[in-house]
Amino acid sequence: MRIWAIANQKGGVGKTTTTVSMGGILAQAGKRVLLIDLDPHGSLSSYLGIDPETVERSMYPLFQQIASGDEVQPQAMIHTTEFDGLGVIPASTAMATLEKQYGAKNGMGLVLKRVLSSLYDVYDNVLIDCPPMLGLLMVNALAACKRVIIPVQTEHLAIKGMERMLRTMQMIQQSLNADIAYTIVPTMYDQRTVACRQSLQRLQNDHRSKMTRVVIPIDTRLRDASHQGKPINYLRGDSQGLQAYQRFVSLLSGRRQNDAREVA
Ligand SMILES: Nc1ncnc2c1ncn2[C@@H]1O[C@H](COP(=O)(O)OP(=O)(O)OP(=O)(O)O)[C@@H](O)[C@H]1O
Ligand SMILES: [Mg+2]
Repeated sequence: MRIWAIANQKGGVGKTTTTVSMGGILAQAGKRVLLIDLDPHGSLSSYLGIDPETVERSMYPLFQQIASGDEVQPQAMIHTTEFDGLGVIPASTAMATLEKQYGAKNGMGLVLKRVLSSLYDVYDNVLIDCPPMLGLLMVNALAACKRVIIPVQTEHLAIKGMERMLRTMQMIQQSLNADIAYTIVPTMYDQRTVACRQSLQRLQNDHRSKMTRVVIPIDTRLRDASHQGKPINYLRGDSQGLQAYQRFVSLLSGRRQNDAREVA
């Protein structure tokens, strides 16, 4: 089972879009895929037609079950989707209260890791969509995953935000006592604008060894896909956004797990 967390403390950089697109592409290729929505805003859940305000089967009860020492029942929280092989554990807006309830409680950073260990044989790929902030939920994602995928909008402020994310990871890495492998993927790239070209250049200069070779272009089809509630590969027709995500998935899938050296 390959577990990837899609994370960046900067908002609106394409985390949810990346999660859904990669999940759809993997599922269509015959993989058994589980998407996990860890963002209390529930954008991923809403994308797939699940209302985070009213949903009952979600990540939230799993945190409560573990906090109260009950047996966890992850299978019961999984929703199937209309896309073969693609399951999701949604977020509930109640998850916004988890920090306050359990932020200081021992062991609560490892809830997701425990949950996923019981699903090890059931899925080939797990993709975790993270909230755009550091906290208990992000810590859970970083502790559970084998690799962090960091989408970065090719824009000056977004690069600053990403560098903050890298510092956060270093901090958490120390407390977990484990290296966190990561891959940076530039998103929303518009080659016509100087600012985008300069930002991409800067990313390549400063972070080359951690960057994928793929650049996700700005593509309105990705917005269309979210309006239609489908991963982009289930829309009719080809697009640059789809091709870029397909290449990214195949590069990441082709590499050895836990290999922090190679660039995908
Ligand atoms: N490559 C792209 N081209 C065009 N639009 C995109 C692209 N990637 C994402 N978007 C759009 O940009 C918006 C923000 O994307 P998304 O929700 O994936 O970001 P996010 O990082 O998950 O945001 P948040 O931090 O709020 O969770 C969405 O409307 C999405 O459809
Ligand atoms: Mg999001």
